[in-house]
Amino acid sequence: MAFDTLLPRPVSVTPAPGTYPWPSTVDVRPASLPPEGYRLSISPSGVVLEVADPAGEVYGRETLRQLAGPAAFRVAGFAPSSLPCGVVEDHPRFGWRGCLLDVARHFRTKAEVLRFVDLLAAHKLNVLNLHLTDDQGWRFEVPAFPRLTSVGGWRPSSMVGSGGEQDGRPHGGFYTGDDLREIVAYAASRAVTVVPEIDIPGHARAALAAYPALGTSASASEVWTSWGISTSLLSPVASTLDFFRQVFNHLLEIFPSPVIALGGDETPGATDEHRAFVRQLAEHLVARGRTPMGWDEVLDIDGLPPMVIGAWRNEDAGVRAASHGHDVVMCPEQHVYLDHRQSADPAEPIPVGWVHTLEDVYAYAPALSGERLRGVQAQVWSEHLDSVRRVDYMAFPRLSAFAEVAWSPGPRDYAEFLPRLRDHHLPRLDALGVEYRPLAGPHPWQTRPGVPGRPR
Ligand code: ACM
Repeated sequence: MAFDTLLPRPVSVTPAPGTYPWPSTVDVRPASLPPEGYRLSISPSGVVLEVADPAGEVYGRETLRQLAGPAAFRVAGFAPSSLPCGVVEDHPRFGWRGCLLDVARHFRTKAEVLRFVDLLAAHKLNVLNLHLTDDQGWRFEVPAFPRLTSVGGWRPSSMVGSGGEQDGRPHGGFYTGDDLREIVAYAASRAVTVVPEIDIPGHARAALAAYPALGTSASASEVWTSWGISTSLLSPVASTLDFFRQVFNHLLEIFPSPVIALGGDETPGATDEHRAFVRQLAEHLVARGRTPMGWDEVLDIDGLPPMVIGAWRNEDAGVRAASHGHDVVMCPEQHVYLDHRQSADPAEPIPVGWVHTLEDVYAYAPALSGERLRGVQAQVWSEHLDSVRRVDYMAFPRLSAFAEVAWSPGPRDYAEFLPRLRDHHLPRLDALGVEYRPLAGPHPWQTRPGVPGRPR
């Protein structure tokens, strides 16, 4: 292996003659470096890793692992190898290098979430935005409100692709407080912050099914078995507000993240009362020392406290959010929605959305700069990802390309990236057991013949 195989690409590399044997011991030392930065010096006499902070150590060790070769990514059985001598000095472009994982539409087991955390850390990504609740399922156990999970965590059937057909197969699951604490601690040890999301006042049919008094008599009374945008919203009255204050209080006990997400997206028919409801919950989080995060629809709400805005509908939303004094995470669906299809080939499994090729994702350049821009985030919505194998297929290797966008300032050249990915990084994903989409298109067993998508 050599320094030019690293992904994401480091800020600076100075090769030197010689090699050092791997596995090796690493002499870790604190140093004054940019946040999350590290300086990795490999010489024939040893490996020194200078780090800015614990995250810097995680990233320096990831770089070492890449230099040791793909076999170092296996759980056991490192191949005999050696490290090239030289110095890597590195730190990230953005402080927020995120990926949203939707565990509401399709539940991912705790073990699958832990594995996803490993994959984020292997790519030097540092935020897991965990989408815990939606119309189709509530995954966060709240002891005071057991029906949220005993009722809201389950549905009798799911829509097959984007057609009208139902599979007739029950689906569900949820995380206990201990499950989530374990995920948070595991992620923290890999420098990943878990930012939980409870989506209000829309995307809340699972909660309405559990506690119909949260809605009106016109609200849906079942966990939704279809995909789409529901018109059933929470009823923005005092009792609902009190209920969700308690839900968020419990969330805060489990998630130490400075940022807590409350959704706010896709609320057809929302009134001023709904907007006030979102604002009051945002204020509730602020009063408890956290920064609320909302999707860019919340910019229509007057009097919001300073928030983090996830700019998903377009780039302009991020620019607008910054001009209103909010921090911004750029995650536009035109560029970084990884549930969208990866090519125009009709054989792509359940093709939805626009075509976002690997090259498209690699080319993503946020249309905002400056101190309001916290960073970027890719999104893995899971309506059509009913297994972890489907998540692997949609997320990788596009998330590998995205990781370089989030970490490396550029300039970016796809022709330079592609051989690095193909010849060096895909073997790492193979060693990790990731069932990514081959560059030439899906394996036959990765297709879903006959399951209709909804290409845009
Ligand atoms: C979103 O995709 N509704 C944030």
